[in-house]
Amino acid sequence: MHEAVKWGVIGSGGIARRRTIPEGIAPADNAHLAAVFDVDAAVNRAVAGEFGGAAAGSVEELLAMDVDAVYIASPAYAHHAQALACAGAGKHILCEKPLGLTPAEAEEMAAAAREAGVLFGTALMMRFQTQHREAKRLIDAGELGKVAYARAQLSCWYPPIQGAWRQDPATGGGGSLIDMGGHCIDLLEMLLGPVRRVTCFTGNLVHGYRSEDSAVALLEFASGALGTVDTFFCITDEGSRNVLELHGTLGSIEAEGTIGQALQGSMAAVLKGNASAYDAAQTRIGQGWIEISPKPVNMYRAEIESFGRAVLEGREPEVGSDAGVRSQKVLAACYESARTGRAVQV
Ligand SMILES: NC(=O)c1ccc[n+]([C@@H]2O[C@H](COP(=O)([O-])OP(=O)(O)OC[C@H]3O[C@@H](n4cnc5c(N)ncnc54)[C@H](O)[C@@H]3O)[C@@H](O)[C@H]2O)c1
Repeated sequence: MHEAVKWGVIGSGGIARRRTIPEGIAPADNAHLAAVFDVDAAVNRAVAGEFGGAAAGSVEELLAMDVDAVYIASPAYAHHAQALACAGAGKHILCEKPLGLTPAEAEEMAAAAREAGVLFGTALMMRFQTQHREAKRLIDAGELGKVAYARAQLSCWYPPIQGAWRQDPATGGGGSLIDMGGHCIDLLEMLLGPVRRVTCFTGNLVHGYRSEDSAVALLEFASGALGTVDTFFCITDEGSRNVLELHGTLGSIEAEGTIGQALQGSMAAVLKGNASAYDAAQTRIGQGWIEISPKPVNMYRAEIESFGRAVLEGREPEVGSDAGVRSQKVLAACYESARTGRAVQV
């Protein structure tokens, strides 16, 4: 048995209950679920009953318990105050995206953690997807040559729901772009480096709620590469194949279903020299394409174990506050572009 981080969870009833507790905290080799809190007390009791841990009646009660780190998985509008409270109580923080509603909120959260001497991680779990990591390794190894173009897609059908926090920018920070496009932009920055300029269109094509249900962002990376992110709340779940495409002077990578919450999608590549040197899980699938299928790893478990190692070893987390603040700045530039009709420097 390894040493374990004692976790508290705020907002236990949503993604925490669906994914991060059962797939991440429960099976992790360095985690123990100590306490949970949700504003819905009945849901909170049910989560505590399902997975163990004390059911706290408030954030303050949870922070007074024997907890080392807190996973914040409440709606976006609640993150800022809760992260400040966690920092004030000396607890390490792993916060869901988007960190806050604005870059300023995200920066304040990161600063509060720094000043309190606690670690701050951003829960951008798609960075732990092994196909994404393999894509990065191939790009860094020069297998695609100079990358010219990238596309990341994440869309779904999300009809109006009374009181849904994502459907009002006052509680979600925006709609499809900040909620799902944020993952796509972060992933492309992980693969290609920083974005320097954006142009973006957003709209409400179908749904009547206040957040956008449609967004396409055109990204110009500091490397000169171009990218697009398309993210809609108004196309069918089946129709969105959550595509990732990376095209370079010497090769390309195409994936379906790797972006999202599933364990693994499919990914294929044409690589420099027709992949003669590529030896990991190599299956030729015609016209120079090979399947890229590294051993899958559950992203939620990898995220929890990685943050846990940072806590136990007293070092910076792999995906820290910088990633979350950065993501928020690129997203804010996209919204500014959509509002003004201009290209915006990040
Ligand atoms: N990484 C991922 O795979 C992933 C997936 C979905 C959502 N998210 C992120 O997780 C966060 C939560 O999203 P969700 O889909 O679980 O939302 P949700 O609305 O489904 O669930 C949120 C939970 O928080 C509770 N809650 C509401 N206000 C609260 C408060 N002030 N304090 C404590 N609990 C509160 C609700 O009762 C609910 O149980 C968001 O930041 C979202 O962007 C991440």
